[in-house]
Amino acid sequence: MQFFLDSAQVDQIEYALDAFDIDGITTNPRHVQVSGKPFLTVVREIAKLVEGTDKTVSVEVNPHFMTYDEIMPEAEKLAAISPNFVIKLQCVEPAFKAIEDLAKKGIRVNCTLIFSAMQALQAMRSGAYYVSPFIGWKESNGEDTKGFINDVMTIRDIYGFDSEVIVAAVRNARQIIDAATMGADIVTAGMAVYQEGFRHPYTDEGIKKFIKFWDETPYE
Ligand code: E4P
Repeated sequence: MQFFLDSAQVDQIEYALDAFDIDGITTNPRHVQVSGKPFLTVVREIAKLVEGTDKTVSVEVNPHFMTYDEIMPEAEKLAAISPNFVIKLQCVEPAFKAIEDLAKKGIRVNCTLIFSAMQALQAMRSGAYYVSPFIGWKESNGEDTKGFINDVMTIRDIYGFDSEVIVAAVRNARQIIDAATMGADIVTAGMAVYQEGFRHPYTDEGIKKFIKFWDETPYE
């Protein structure tokens, strides 16, 4: 399973690449706003960090763009910036034709803001490179997310679609493990979610105990 970092903060991405060899990056308008930099500046900076690797950077098209004619030129412009870019398109009806036509031009699309298996199915039919079911938002809304991930994975596998599934809007380690046990290809989460997941209070307690015993014992 691949771990993607959901961030547009260059220092965080650099750290995650170095410390735990993160497999890819996903950005969205919120992350770009948090970075404090203009959109094109920050995506170019992120592109530099992964230059020469096969790590993908998902970059979102202006969310105002709701028609095929608006989506296509912007997607092509962004894709031309870096071979690592995968173009994020919101899961709306005009995006499906755009996904298909961009795929014909060799431009990969991450179909984002997916909240139902039906949306995921159509994005996969259209030839999306990634489909991103969001689970955190659904869980906050009291909806089932394990069944959701399971449906998306089952559909992908039964029909042998090429799309990879990124479980997105992940809020904690338990959700990452749910995604892993359902066979999801990728999760994308913020730095804090990974770092909290890598820790356990018993590990900290064990370290304290072992330090005490170590200090009370001669080395030779
Ligand atoms: C995924 O690609 C999205 O960027 C992300 O997971 C969105 O969710 P959030 O901003 O609510 O965390």
